[in-house]
Amino acid sequence: MKKVAVLFVCLGNICRSPTAHGLFRQLVAEHNLSHCIEIESAGTSGWHIDEPPDPRSVSAAKSRGCDISDLRGRKFEAVDFNHYDYILAMDTANLDHLIELCPAGYSGEVKLFLDYSSQAKYREVPDPYHGGTKGFELVLDLIEDGCNGLLNTIKKEK
Ligand code: 4NP
Repeated sequence: MKKVAVLFVCLGNICRSPTAHGLFRQLVAEHNLSHCIEIESAGTSGWHIDEPPDPRSVSAAKSRGCDISDLRGRKFEAVDFNHYDYILAMDTANLDHLIELCPAGYSGEVKLFLDYSSQAKYREVPDPYHGGTKGFELVLDLIEDGCNGLLNTIKKEK
């Protein structure tokens, strides 16, 4: 059976989407579902191709028991629509970019990642790149919540 394929997308692919990639990978492994769900992340910019995640994201994730240091930046490509079932943007600017590239007839989900979150205060994961530590903690809080909702949805839908 084909795995359910999930792609998290942000701008740089060094802060938000690799955090979601790593946290969701860990959650899926904890639920013994790694053989059913494959996970990737990408940036709509090509600014950080092959780079590791931002050290602030690595240490924030590590403080919650999640190692994301093995991940490397890559750019979102239109061919990703041929493979991924869930293409989830961290904010509306990135979602708009994805929708522009989305072929007619794409049968998967292209939406905001926080559509799967249980909280209603944030629709977008705020870009933490130019801010301080607090921003990275907020990213983790929102992403943890979104990952739980996403996994529950995939279990129901697939
Ligand atoms: P991300 O954050 O989209 O969450 O990876 C950013 C990373 C880098 C830049 C902007 C946002 N940048 O301007 O290089």
